[in-house]
Amino acid sequence: MMQPLGILDGKIINLDDLILPMEDRGHQFGDGVYEYTKVYDGHCFGLQPHLERLYRSLRELRIPAVYTIEELAGFHELLIKETGIQNGGIYLQITRGVAPRVHSFPDKAVPKLTMSLRPAGSGNASLWENGAAIILIPDIRWLRCDIKSLNLLGNVLGKQEAKEAGCFEAVMIRNGIITEGTSSNFFVVKDGVLWTHPVSPLILKGVTRTFVIDTLAPALGLPVVEKEFSPAFLQSAEEAFLSGTSTEIMPIVTIDGKPLSGGAVGPVTRKVQTAYKQLIAQACGE
Ligand SMILES: Cc1ncc(COP(=O)(O)O)c(C=O)c1O
Repeated sequence: MMQPLGILDGKIINLDDLILPMEDRGHQFGDGVYEYTKVYDGHCFGLQPHLERLYRSLRELRIPAVYTIEELAGFHELLIKETGIQNGGIYLQITRGVAPRVHSFPDKAVPKLTMSLRPAGSGNASLWENGAAIILIPDIRWLRCDIKSLNLLGNVLGKQEAKEAGCFEAVMIRNGIITEGTSSNFFVVKDGVLWTHPVSPLILKGVTRTFVIDTLAPALGLPVVEKEFSPAFLQSAEEAFLSGTSTEIMPIVTIDGKPLSGGAVGPVTRKVQTAYKQLIAQACGE
């Protein structure tokens, strides 16, 4: 038990068994989509919105959905049951399928589903508590960042740059506007108001971002503005934080080596973070 396991087209497999045909379009073109959902105390958190976003990504890329939402939810439960992992993360990927390598869509390919569940890393505890550092970098990604596609090279290069700078995340700037992190959405607190980039093709509409805007901020009486803002606006802000499924609510206390909010986690960020933990506890309860 507690051994990470995978699913290939609905059947449980060992992760090192997994041999996908070489001509899977995921390998050759990044022609596919994915989701990542966290498991707390044996329950998937926010599974429904994650699966709804997956279907949207599939529709945008015209990949036929060959499983129902109920079937995919069932595979999540099956992985939790078979692995015995109570706290971890489920990665799900659907590619357009296997076909001789031609750019245009193949006539007959059947989409391929793979999933895996691994235990949660111990990773971020001290950063969640004390805050993290980010760098600002140019956003070099394509213009459909709203699709959760397998094409992540801009994100991969950005995250590596952050790592080499000793930072938790790189936050990206396109045309003088802050978009999002390489695997997270970005919020600032300015005059007690939460600001974040509006939903558009230039960002991923994060499930955690939506929880912050629709559930946590109203409960805490925090106004939210979904509007573009610049790095100069960020410099003038009181606080900043990242949101994401694995990032959760990550306070930012250093930007490009300079302290923000006095280098300590701000009170608004802490409230949002605490409320997020409570939401998870309610949903996934012990
Ligand atoms: C580019 C990008 N933005 C935002 C997010 C946050 O989305 P979510 O809250 O749904 O995990 C992610 C998550 O992986 C991401 O890759």
